[in-house]
Amino acid sequence: MENLERVEGAGCSVLHKRVEAGGITLESTPAVQDRHEDQPVRPGKVYIVGAGPGHPELLTLKAAELLRRADVVIYDRLIQEEVLALAKPSAERIYMGKPLGRHESRQQEINELLVRKAREGKVVVRLKGGDPYVFGRGGEEAEYLADHGIPFEVVPGVTSAFAAPLSAGIAVTHRDVASSVAVVTGHEASREGERIPWGALAQIDTLIFLMSVTNIDTIVRKLIEHGLDPATPAAMVQMAFWPEEKVVVGTVSDIAEKVQQSGVRPPATLVIGKVVGMREKLVLAERELRRQPQERFVAAPPPDQLMRLATGGLAAQVLGLALELDVFGWLDEARGPEELAERLGACAEPLREVLEVLVALGLVEKLEGGRYRNLELASHYLSSHSESTLREALLYQAQLGGDWARLRDYVQRGEVETTLADQRVEHHRANEVLARCAAPWVVNQLELGGGPVLVVGYGGEVYERLIEERWPGTKIRRIDPTGNGIDWKTWERVTGAEGAYQTVVLSGLLGCMPKGQMGRFLRTVSRRLRNGGQLVFHDAFMATGVLPPPEAVLGFLARRIWRGGCGVWTAERLRNELEQLGFRDIEARPLTAGTVMVVARRPADT
Ligand SMILES: C[S@@+](CC[C@H](N)C(=O)[O-])C[C@H]1O[C@@H](n2cnc3c(N)ncnc32)[C@H](O)[C@@H]1O
Repeated sequence: MENLERVEGAGCSVLHKRVEAGGITLESTPAVQDRHEDQPVRPGKVYIVGAGPGHPELLTLKAAELLRRADVVIYDRLIQEEVLALAKPSAERIYMGKPLGRHESRQQEINELLVRKAREGKVVVRLKGGDPYVFGRGGEEAEYLADHGIPFEVVPGVTSAFAAPLSAGIAVTHRDVASSVAVVTGHEASREGERIPWGALAQIDTLIFLMSVTNIDTIVRKLIEHGLDPATPAAMVQMAFWPEEKVVVGTVSDIAEKVQQSGVRPPATLVIGKVVGMREKLVLAERELRRQPQERFVAAPPPDQLMRLATGGLAAQVLGLALELDVFGWLDEARGPEELAERLGACAEPLREVLEVLVALGLVEKLEGGRYRNLELASHYLSSHSESTLREALLYQAQLGGDWARLRDYVQRGEVETTLADQRVEHHRANEVLARCAAPWVVNQLELGGGPVLVVGYGGEVYERLIEERWPGTKIRRIDPTGNGIDWKTWERVTGAEGAYQTVVLSGLLGCMPKGQMGRFLRTVSRRLRNGGQLVFHDAFMATGVLPPPEAVLGFLARRIWRGGCGVWTAERLRNELEQLGFRDIEARPLTAGTVMVVARRPADT
């Protein structure tokens, strides 16, 4: 049941109760209300994890392990791709870097997101650069979780405060010259009412200033005013353990100018003290990290990301159309898709689908009451006034995708011309590829319980081979798609006596069945199943209650545009149909690339 919770998000508490009651029933409206309660029974857990200064080999073992387990990774700027690549392909990766001037509101968003994701029952890794409790606001996040009753754990990381000097060959407490070291924020230095004890700092052997690039002038001036010798050695270390690492060395009197001249940019750490002068030998230390600074890591895209790339053309077109219609410009004004459609001269339902794609792409946020609003990224990168606008490039990408008119027609007129034959073939191939790729996952989770198996739909050949390998001697019958897809009369091909099969696997059928045919098909199949036999679906469902991945939303939109009017199936809707046919113990488990496996059992006593 745990997996069903994950598909259905906040619905988990309800489903639990129902299982305890001896089977799932979907009749209850309270179930829907429960789904929206903001306090489900079992919250997940948040791990606030330090990622170290940059290089993935400087992660702790615990951090790497947690990344592999996480359902959601919420990360900041300064986290390397290679680190994120450790998370499982299906993990949701959410970038929550803080743009200049938006630290406070962004921090509140992060806090709320952590609580929300944990309440969805997820394992959340909050990944922060360096050590989470060293100038990283990890303490505040932990407090917020504690206040909201969310279980959490904090995992230390290698702090850049010490790793950056080390990387530049600076031993911060070299015995000959230093017996004290202070780590200070440079961020406050030029603020009114700042709390930095400059006089005390001037007495300390080694000073380490984080966030010091912008205020370096003020920092050195104040230290000199408070008695620090201007000839004291100083170094600025930029992006230690990143390919862009750079070290600038000078003295307290000239380091500010040198930093400016050499174009050092944050993140960089300033080290002041005699220890800087001792780096001559230490800087010769070899670095045996797997990657040399000049090499760039290119992460191989995991299957989920590949799926995203595969649907990228349509995503660009959706974005292009949204720009062309000025959806982003009107979004905040309208009270929902209907009003927006009226203003833009479009059809409400297709426009809503476009908005859902934009939500899944992380450009638009869906608010309570059906309203939408631009996210910061959208307004910044997509607006025609922004300096860093990507508008032209996106419009160009959209044109490259070809056949853009189809999407435009769909959104503006609510209909498209009849299904194109070649698109049918493409759709058929895409389904086959997806089914073959997912078959091992499905078979892995099957409990066959003997008896003949019927496989209807895509990937049948792979299913047959895998089942034969795992349960030698099992009788298997296949009904493969014909020619260019699943024929709507496939149900007529399901032959065999009543109760002939112990297991029926239906692979990739839902999107191909015209509306109204599925019920008939399921009834036929159900009659051929033994009492106690199981029905197994593998398909792309639209999940309710959780943000669907972009490829799922795009997939549905594509079907509408290219195949004309296939129904959108949610796991919930399928459950409804199955329950009406008397199926029990219905379980849904997320698999790969936004697909879901659903297993349902025919009662033993019918
Ligand atoms: C908001 S603080 C976070 C510090 C972090 N929690 C830690 O323990 O390293 C960010 C500052 O850390 C320093 N920093 C982070 N990564 C660095 C790196 N790779 N090289 C040098 N300094 C770094 C810079 O001074 C940067 O402005």
